[in-house]
Amino acid sequence: MSEALRVRVAGIEMRNPLMLASGIMGSFSSSLNRLSEHAGAVVTKSVGLAPVEGYRNPAVINYSHGLINAVGLASPGAEAFSEELRGYAFYSPLIVSLFASTPEEFADLTTHFEFADGFELNLSCPHAKNVGLSVGSDPELVKEVVRVTKRATDKPVFAKISPNVRDIVEIGKAAEDGGADGVVAINTLKGMKIDIFAKRPILSNISGGVSGEGIKPVAVKCVWDLYEELSIPIIGSGGVTSWKDVIEFMLAGAMAVQLGSALFYSNRIFYSLKESLIAYTRMTGERLEDIVGMAHRT
Ligand SMILES: Cc1cc2nc3c(=O)[nH]c(=O)nc-3n(C[C@H](O)[C@H](O)[C@H](O)COP(=O)(O)O)c2cc1C
Repeated sequence: MSEALRVRVAGIEMRNPLMLASGIMGSFSSSLNRLSEHAGAVVTKSVGLAPVEGYRNPAVINYSHGLINAVGLASPGAEAFSEELRGYAFYSPLIVSLFASTPEEFADLTTHFEFADGFELNLSCPHAKNVGLSVGSDPELVKEVVRVTKRATDKPVFAKISPNVRDIVEIGKAAEDGGADGVVAINTLKGMKIDIFAKRPILSNISGGVSGEGIKPVAVKCVWDLYEELSIPIIGSGGVTSWKDVIEFMLAGAMAVQLGSALFYSNRIFYSLKESLIAYTRMTGERLEDIVGMAHRT
């Protein structure tokens, strides 16, 4: 273990800044256990109070620079998911991602997962009705969701926000005003793909969320803008595939970064990125925590 990689995000100690992003292999304890051996923390698939079936296939497709998905927040519901997560071995901290339509439902959800180290509020899924981005586009509602959820739990609460809003900084500020312990930026961007031979949209839901390498510059800019205005920690997400991306996000202001689509291409990625970051810190003699936001000052 390298001390230079350690970060502390809203009181959560991570052995490195690499987190598993929500929805990517985060539905079963067995896969979370395996990934958490090398990750700094893991975030589960988003869960709501009641079971949700999700959209028909195709729900995830490839494009040249990443993925487009419209899974539809498929989830077994809070009670069944809480049972499943009891098999989590806690090799690294566990953050449970929640989706709901009202502040009270978010608050209620936290009570099912008292063993979690923190919560991530999905205020940003672009393809589910009445939840996700539908809640996360309204600054007043975002503030209220965070405020009411914070009252229900003493664990850190992170707001995961979207660039598909008028002003992501306004939403980040609303989360901070509501008492959020940090923000996660960004979720997927709205997008779609049309089959030119069948002459129809490929995803069963017509459109979905774009992730992967192609969205990285958008995500870095969002982290940059949020860092300029917010005092709470920022967790970067969007297109991280290499150790250089991790450093770039941290220089822009992220205290940790999440990996999503990259897991579809390599399931050893936490190990290989961690090793590369150790080499980087040996070369520079820096601790990663010290480079957070550095690009704003040089
Ligand atoms: C198949 C798939 C499912 C996802 N499910 C969720 C989810 O349940 N909740 C959530 O907040 N984000 C979800 N996301 C978004 C990711 O957590 C991440 O924020 C986004 O993909 C950008 O990161 P990436 O470019 O590293 O994939 C999902 C993404 C993909 C590709």
